[in-house]
Amino acid sequence: MNEKNNRGKFASKIGVILASAGSAVGLGNIWRFPTETGENGGAAFILLYICCILLLGLPVMISEFLIGRRTHADASAAFEILAPKHHQWHWVGRIGLLAGIMIFSFYSVVAGWTLNYAVQAGLNRFNQMVSTDGSNVYSSYFNSFVSDPLMPTLCLVFFILLTHYVVARGIEKGIERFSKIMMPTLFLLLLLLAGFAMTTEGAAEGLNFLFRPDFSKINSSVVLSAMGQAFFSLSIGIGCLCTYASYFRKEVNLARTAGSVALIDTFVAIISGIIIFPAVYSVAGMEPSEGPSLVFVALPNIFHIIFSDYPVLAYVLPFLFYFLLVLASLTSTISMHELITAYFHESHHMSRKKATYMVTAICLVLGTLCSLSLGVGSSYTIAGMTLFDFFDYLTAKWMLPIGGLFIVIFTGWYLDRKILWEELTNNGSLRFFGFHIFLFVLKYVAPLGIFMIFLDQLGVF
Ligand code: TRP
Repeated sequence: MNEKNNRGKFASKIGVILASAGSAVGLGNIWRFPTETGENGGAAFILLYICCILLLGLPVMISEFLIGRRTHADASAAFEILAPKHHQWHWVGRIGLLAGIMIFSFYSVVAGWTLNYAVQAGLNRFNQMVSTDGSNVYSSYFNSFVSDPLMPTLCLVFFILLTHYVVARGIEKGIERFSKIMMPTLFLLLLLLAGFAMTTEGAAEGLNFLFRPDFSKINSSVVLSAMGQAFFSLSIGIGCLCTYASYFRKEVNLARTAGSVALIDTFVAIISGIIIFPAVYSVAGMEPSEGPSLVFVALPNIFHIIFSDYPVLAYVLPFLFYFLLVLASLTSTISMHELITAYFHESHHMSRKKATYMVTAICLVLGTLCSLSLGVGSSYTIAGMTLFDFFDYLTAKWMLPIGGLFIVIFTGWYLDRKILWEELTNNGSLRFFGFHIFLFVLKYVAPLGIFMIFLDQLGVF
């Protein structure tokens, strides 16, 4: 009991929303969303993605919140507490942990790149790069940077240590305060950049790509990607938000918090698209389907073009952008680190300090391997993919939706209806509009939706 009372708590309601949104908003929105949108044909993919957020993602998120807040325990123990007789349910939490370790490892590689880009922008390097042979300097820079064995690895190590530092400081001091400042600043800057993007010559074509759907582009792999992206972006399917919710107070309105987080998250993703696709169409030779390099090649290019007459802006805005991207990634990796740390600390009675070090050590090793797999280790592949791509593919497209499927089955079919109602209405003190509709989506629409997308991918239809 003591242990429970000593657990940290988020101090304010806005802190709760910002910390959860801080987990959700990150490279998933600003780097992965444009990459996936570009590779999957644009507007039609975005429509599918939004359907997945509403019908599949929100029920999973609300379920994670209520499981976490009900039990005040780490994700794996939470299932054990709620389902003591059928204790196989804790496997949902454990597999989530494994996915969390894999995501943290490959995610930190890209976060390391953003760190390097923030430093390079701070040194004003991007404005000094000139091409000698007519090729795109930003593209050459990116390719040579990521395949270098040393620099990206150093950035990754530094970034993981930064995450370690914040997690070690604990919930309120570390995570909440940090998110409160970072999130609003990031918002404002993205809006400002979207405004500038509208003035570029590729703006019309970029917006067309983003908002005019071509339904002939939809196939089973596009649908799987949209579902994976929705889960990845909302940070759901592995118990990450379940762990955060275990630090929520009893007054927090879970459904409304989930709605706000999903809204903020989708908004940031779409705004990132509005910044990046006009940029892509303004740079000669770039294609939306370029892949993971979009944010690191199209953006420096376009900053250079738009602000060529305003050296101060050309220096300040890119620096601020990459700096905030580092912070946005940090609020996401903190939530992954916290998920695993809380598990070792609480379920294995390890001191919090020791648990934090252990998670950091595991992810340093795996993260380094992911980073090297893009350069010197690129010949070692799994199912034809580098370790980096394999971790991304396996987690986002399979592990998160499968985790989500079990989570909605758990809350919709296994958990006592009374617990659901108590958590969603805070013991009757809140009104939950449309409880029956929500139950219907939770019990039928979400699990069947996820299941059918998998069957479709496996070629059953
Ligand atoms: N959602 C975050 C992003 O968009 C990444 C993230 C944090 C995540 N925690 C997660 C993804 C848990 C999947 C599961 O950047």
